[in-house]
Amino acid sequence: MEGRIVVTNIGELATPLGTTALKGAGMGSLRRVKDAVIVVEDGLIVHAGPRDDEECRKALDAARRRATPVVDAQGKACVPGFVDSHSHFLFAGFRADEFLWRAEGESYMDIHRRGGGILRTVEATRRASFEELLAIGASRLEGMLSLGITTVEGKSGYGLDRDTEIRQLEVMAALDSSQPIDVVRTFLGPHAVPPEFSGRASDYIDFVIDQVLPEVAARKLASFADVFCEEGVFGVEDSRRYLKAAAAAGLGLKIHADEIVALGGAGLAAELKARSADHLLKASRSDLVRMGEAGVIAVCLPLTAFTLREPCADARTMIDSGLAVALASDLNPGSCYSQSIPLVFALATLYMRLSFAEALTAITLNGAAALGLADRIGSIEPGKRADFLLLDAPEASHLAYHVGMNLVARTIKGGETVYLRR
Ligand code: NIG
Ligand code: FE
Repeated sequence: MEGRIVVTNIGELATPLGTTALKGAGMGSLRRVKDAVIVVEDGLIVHAGPRDDEECRKALDAARRRATPVVDAQGKACVPGFVDSHSHFLFAGFRADEFLWRAEGESYMDIHRRGGGILRTVEATRRASFEELLAIGASRLEGMLSLGITTVEGKSGYGLDRDTEIRQLEVMAALDSSQPIDVVRTFLGPHAVPPEFSGRASDYIDFVIDQVLPEVAARKLASFADVFCEEGVFGVEDSRRYLKAAAAAGLGLKIHADEIVALGGAGLAAELKARSADHLLKASRSDLVRMGEAGVIAVCLPLTAFTLREPCADARTMIDSGLAVALASDLNPGSCYSQSIPLVFALATLYMRLSFAEALTAITLNGAAALGLADRIGSIEPGKRADFLLLDAPEASHLAYHVGMNLVARTIKGGETVYLRR
């Protein structure tokens, strides 16, 4: 998208700054400007700052000469577009019954062990055609625009066979080029052991490495590889083997780590210098420290913890020990059928004890960094893509303060308005 726009009369512009993940105390410093102006040319921000300085006057003059269209924000606050760096948004069918069973006390892994859980979504997704998945994905992405999500990561992992895994990735590639949100693709072949390989997790890893990964890599169908490293799913040894093969094939690495038991996925992420380790509810202190040293981003998924009635990941301690934390949704049909960014802000500030600034950084710039895109998106500053939001609020902090409410009034992607609340 090559949009051009001038946005004036912004009540408060609030953004992290930089082109890499912010770590530790750095996560708490936002640039906050009252009465701000943003100027966009060719989809990129060329100016963002206070209305009344010399630089702004020059940028506005230049925009006027080029007849760039002007939007009056009427005092609305403005923040970067949200980067949802962990989701499983492309799936067929639902599992509402499992939600109710869990509400009555059954555990996520008990349901998984008796053949429910992920494998039920695999059945439904294998049956879905390319066109059906495309329609499902398109309607979910449309919902995301109204939540202010401008970039989303999407994982495969509901095929667990060659054709369906590839189809999921192809559908996400098609969605990436046919609608405004950027879709970053992750190959999660080892998401569960499929029925064809029941009891033979290592053989399934061999199959993924030999039969699916080469095509994913050769056709550039995914930027990242991910594995559900969990007791009763894939152990550390199998996870390491898969991730090493994926790295050798040129993919970035992510891990579903230490979500249900402390298996050591966070330590593996540190060892392999993964881009991110995600979930981390049970990660040990020493593994978290190693992650920090290795520059691995900790992606926390509070909506999943909430849905599973688990305490949220200890992001406060992570930040206090100098890690870079990102927040994402984990949208999926099982452990977390939610992509509520408003609820993420509420949980982060009320229960994870993050400051508003840390929460905003975690879901913008650090989300971008978790996808290797922090040099292009995630903040509002010259040179970045013009992905930002106008909020129905005079100050950005209302994202947390107005608990659980969606405040997005306008979503701007590459300088073009792609969602406008009526
Ligand atoms: O991140 N834990 C593994 N994968 C997803 C759940 C997927 C599902 O239940 O369908 C997660 O929680
Ligand atoms: Fe997940």
